[in-house]
Amino acid sequence: MIKFDFKTYVKPFIDENKFNELYNKKDEYITKLNSCNMIGWTKEINKEVVNDIENTANYIKNNFDCLVVVGIGGSFLGSFSFHKAFQKYFNDKSFEVIYTGTTLSSKYLDELYDYLKDKNYCINVISKSGTTLETNITYNLLKDLLKRKYNEEEIKKRIIITTDKENGALREEVNMKGYKSFEIPNDIGGRFSFMTPAHLLPLALNHNLNSIVDGYYDGKRFIDKAYEYAVIRKLLFDNKKQIECFSVYEENLSYFTEWLKQLFGETEGKNNKGIYPTSMVHTRDLHSLGQFIQEGNKIIFETFIKIDKSNHFIKYDNNDLHTINNIVEDSVEKAHFIGNTPCLEIEMDELNESNLSELMYFFMLAAAFSGLLFEIDPFNQPGVEVYKKEVKKSLNK
Ligand code: PA5
Repeated sequence: MIKFDFKTYVKPFIDENKFNELYNKKDEYITKLNSCNMIGWTKEINKEVVNDIENTANYIKNNFDCLVVVGIGGSFLGSFSFHKAFQKYFNDKSFEVIYTGTTLSSKYLDELYDYLKDKNYCINVISKSGTTLETNITYNLLKDLLKRKYNEEEIKKRIIITTDKENGALREEVNMKGYKSFEIPNDIGGRFSFMTPAHLLPLALNHNLNSIVDGYYDGKRFIDKAYEYAVIRKLLFDNKKQIECFSVYEENLSYFTEWLKQLFGETEGKNNKGIYPTSMVHTRDLHSLGQFIQEGNKIIFETFIKIDKSNHFIKYDNNDLHTINNIVEDSVEKAHFIGNTPCLEIEMDELNESNLSELMYFFMLAAAFSGLLFEIDPFNQPGVEVYKKEVKKSLNK
């Protein structure tokens, strides 16, 4: 169950008439969203695809010690952040999934090489375009590593490609070499691709796909809430609150805030517009950025992601530690509100796979509405191409 409180610590910052005016345009914006051509992520995933993912995950678990996922941005953050949200802090016994392709650090790759040397692993390279520099470099390096050890036939068992159905170098490779492959549908962009094999295959190794899939589509019931959230964010932005800080109280969710930053940052940050997304992990960051939020420049609003119940009971001073954590959270919201920071709250009754998946759908809807409210295309990211072009020019020199 997920609850939303967009009123208690927000109301004084919003002009009610402006809110009503924009909120009453909800149906118009739902129609606008439905007429976009990149909304494949709102449609049911094919059952056969889910079965194929489950079978492939079983094949990986039965034959290898570890899966190396190569991808960046929307091609890795969804599953990475989801997996991290449930990973044990210590003594983690889950099937090993290494996420790579996000850095060109020689130190990192040298150490990865060394680590993989004696491992029995397979690779899942994920890139819709097939042209992403970091992904390609890492994939080619890892393929070279495989070539040092195995023949073509064995390599074929160890590479899984997730990419566009028809286009790009990776699809060509699939066609040429006969590697196992999955498709990222044409009408789904990277950061909206959670409900595709790009994320579901790495997740299927350690998580219950049914809970993830069902939870995700349960998020559809929050369409009005997602629009309301988008409207409130827009009105706060118009009221000079240009930064949204996602605040969490469970360290494990810090990666989820990375997913949120990518989702909102790439969706809204265009044409010199958009809310800048940032994040804090409480209570740690109350002793760093907390000072800024309390008394600094009033350009920030906060969205708290709260977990009502924990299944870990730690008794402290006749209290449950999780209750203390939540009391701190409530008090911080109040303190920040008193310091003139609007605070929105989203609460899951517990942190489980279906709740988190549902929340992801909610945020995707909200990001899409938000893009439309800012009058920009929510589904492209032309700015990312600019750096890619510069890199290509410089490398060609
Ligand atoms: O959200 C997006 O579309 C981007 O973040 C992409 O996912 C990212 O740039 C990686 O692209 P690709 O999957 O083509 O390698």
